[in-house]
Amino acid sequence: MDEVIAEATPLRRTMRTFDLTLLGIGAIIGTGIFVLTGKGALTAGPALSVSFLLAAVCCGFAGLCYAEFASMVPVSGSAYTYAYIAFGEIVAFMIGWDLVLEYALQAATVSAGWSGYFVNLLDGLGLHIPVQLTAAYGTTPGVTTYFNLPGFLIVLAITWVLSIGINQTKRTNDVMVLIKLAVIILFIVCVVRFVQPDNWKPFSPYGWYSFRSGSTTPMGIIPAASIVFFSFIGFDAVSSSAEETINPNKTLPRGILISLGISTVLYIIMTLIMTGVVRYPEFAKFINAPVAGVILKTGMGWLAFIVNIGALLGMTTVMLVQLYGQSRICYAMSRDGMIPRFFGTVHPRYRTPFQGTWFFGLLTAIAGGLVNINVLFELVNIGTLSAFIIVSAGIIWMRWKHPEAHRGFRAPGVPFTPLVSIVFCLVLIAGLNWETWVRFVVWFALGMVVYFSYAASHSKLRLADKNRADDTHRDHHEIDGSQSASH
Ligand code: ALA
Repeated sequence: MDEVIAEATPLRRTMRTFDLTLLGIGAIIGTGIFVLTGKGALTAGPALSVSFLLAAVCCGFAGLCYAEFASMVPVSGSAYTYAYIAFGEIVAFMIGWDLVLEYALQAATVSAGWSGYFVNLLDGLGLHIPVQLTAAYGTTPGVTTYFNLPGFLIVLAITWVLSIGINQTKRTNDVMVLIKLAVIILFIVCVVRFVQPDNWKPFSPYGWYSFRSGSTTPMGIIPAASIVFFSFIGFDAVSSSAEETINPNKTLPRGILISLGISTVLYIIMTLIMTGVVRYPEFAKFINAPVAGVILKTGMGWLAFIVNIGALLGMTTVMLVQLYGQSRICYAMSRDGMIPRFFGTVHPRYRTPFQGTWFFGLLTAIAGGLVNINVLFELVNIGTLSAFIIVSAGIIWMRWKHPEAHRGFRAPGVPFTPLVSIVFCLVLIAGLNWETWVRFVVWFALGMVVYFSYAASHSKLRLADKNRADDTHRDHHEIDGSQSASH
């Protein structure tokens, strides 16, 4: 573990608690609240706020585990690095592979949502992009679309900001997050008076978990929590900034927990208001823009425009932080020899992993432009939940194996805290549909192929073992040689 911590970092340390909190909120609040609340309300009814609470509790317990790890191993790589230290190379590689789902695939998914809001905004201003260029092929029933041009371009713009420096990234993120928070608070203040408590009845029409007759889609509080879990993903990206943070042992845990706490409070208030203004079955009419639908009901057209801007900025920061996290995880993996050096090369002037940032930026832009990834967002959830399980298990293991390791922050109630986190993650995985489980297993199997065909033979650990074996072999040879010479 000490070797991992001791490696010098060429990255620039500039982040403080305030920046990390904004980084966390930047990654957390986005598509989940602006888009997925519609599907969530149809799945759970007004009890959607309980689903948010359930997902928040799950993330809170996992967040405590991330905070302890981040304070113990303040280096880039997040769950990948923690798994490396706790369980070794193969588990770490698989988590790194899994995190591509959480970071790059998620950014591609969000780029599709971003495009929808952007096209709406332009339409409102009387500007029209040819419909064929507004979404990936096959995304919109009854409309022929080929390419999500706005999504493609915004991902490229974000990649450019990320590649030219951490200060530029931090400033861009801070400004956009503050505007996003202001817009959400404005929404709450303006819309709360339109709540009609009758809309909250029945509060939980589908209970915790049920099926409607003839349907295989699970309904209720738990399945909705499995969907809106997406809204909380991102707080863990804070931990990937460890090597660019001042005093990371203290600031990382604070950044993780404060950003999670603020987002949870805002989410619960917002969903209570949304289901209080619009009766839950009506969300079917504006499934892709539920917040806009609620505003429509209040008749405040001017607010719709402002919230549209807030949603766009919200999703922009989500993509910014996720692509940032992706590049830092690959930087850590490349340093360990798990993936080619290309991903870990730091630009001499910008001091960022420039090539890795552009590689994933282009991949995400193209995937978001060409592929109908709306169906894949649940894959992001299962990938993230699996990473949470490994990190939580890692905390129990590290307390047992390395009780002496310095921890700037200790999660309370270990082993119960990580155990509860694991149980909640499993419950949320169970709430996802079976197609998602199958897709995840296929992704996992693909990762194993990559591990055995590249990482296993190139990793630093293996090379070190090989060098040690060669040295021993040479020593034996030399001893044998000198012995036979002296005979
Ligand atoms: N939590 C992020 C969002 O809701 C992924 O967009």
